[in-house]
Amino acid sequence: MSEYLYLKIPASTANLGVGFDSIGMAIDKYLNLYVQEIEDEEWKFEYLNSELESLPKNEENYIYKVAQQVASKYNVHLPNLKVEMRSEIPLARGLGSSASALVGALYIANYFGNIQLSKHELLQLATEIEGHPDNVAPTIYGGLLAGYYNPETKETNVAHIDVPNVDIILTIPSYELKTEDSRRALPHTFSHKKAVQNSAISNTMICALIQHNYELAGKMMEQDGFHEPFRQHLIPEFEQVKSLAKEYNAYAAVISGAGPTILTLSRKEKSGKLVRAFRTQIPSCTSELATINETGVVEEVVYPS
Ligand code: HSE
Repeated sequence: MSEYLYLKIPASTANLGVGFDSIGMAIDKYLNLYVQEIEDEEWKFEYLNSELESLPKNEENYIYKVAQQVASKYNVHLPNLKVEMRSEIPLARGLGSSASALVGALYIANYFGNIQLSKHELLQLATEIEGHPDNVAPTIYGGLLAGYYNPETKETNVAHIDVPNVDIILTIPSYELKTEDSRRALPHTFSHKKAVQNSAISNTMICALIQHNYELAGKMMEQDGFHEPFRQHLIPEFEQVKSLAKEYNAYAAVISGAGPTILTLSRKEKSGKLVRAFRTQIPSCTSELATINETGVVEEVVYPS
C-alpha cells in the first residue's frame, strides 16, 4: 500500500463582531482528510461520519473541484485519489467548514501535484477563491488574525494578534444557515458615516485585544454595525445567549461567521457555569467549551507499516 497524506484542518470563527470579512480565529475542531493515490478510473470520496453524507462523491465535490482548479492553474496533472473524510466541524453553521475543505483541497493539489506552494501562496490562492481571508487565514496559520484581500491586486495581507486569554463557548443551533442566505440579508450600500463609525469600533476592538483588555474588546465586538443587526433575526436564540452571557459577566457574545453558531468569550472562572446554563436554558442548541487552535493545518505523510 502506498503512503497517504493526512491533513488535520482546524475550524474557524470569523468576524468577532465588527471584524466583518477580515478577522478570524482558528478553533480546535477538525476536518481530517486521509488522501491516497488509487488505480481506479476516478476519484473516490468516503465519509467516515454520517453528517458528511449530504456531500457529493463525484466531480461535484468541492474538494475535487478546487484541487483540479489549482492543478490546472499550475499546469500539473493530479493522480486519481481516494479521499476519506472525518469532520468535527458542523456544516453550514458559521464555523468555516467550507473554508477548511477549500484549504484541504489546496494542500491536496500541492502535495499530489508537487507544486511546492508556500504557506503565503496557499493563503493567496485560498483568499482569491473565498473572497476574504477571515476563515482561510486562521485555518492555514492557526491563532487570531486580521487580514485584507485586495480584489484589484488580488493580494492578501494578514497580521497576527495574540490569542485572547479567555475561554470560548460555541452555541450551535440544530439548523443550518447557508452563508449565501446570510450574506443576502446584508445591505448593498452603507453610508460613509456608518463606515467611519464601524471602522472606529473595529480599530478600538483590535487595539483592546492587543492590550489584552477583553472588557473593552468585548464592548466593541458587541457594537458591530456591519453584519449582526441585519442577521440576528435569522438566529432566534441569539438574544437569549447574549442575555445569559451578560448574566455571567462574559466579555461578549457574537455571531460566529455567517451564523447560526454564537461565539461567547467568557471569563475563565465563569465558563463552566455559563456553558451549563446555556445547555439547560437553551436546549435546542448544542453548547460546548472550545479552545483556540494555534498551529493551523497539520500535514503529515504516513507510510503504512
Ligand atoms: N465573514 C463571512 C460572513 C464569513 O460573515 O459572511 C463566512 O464566509
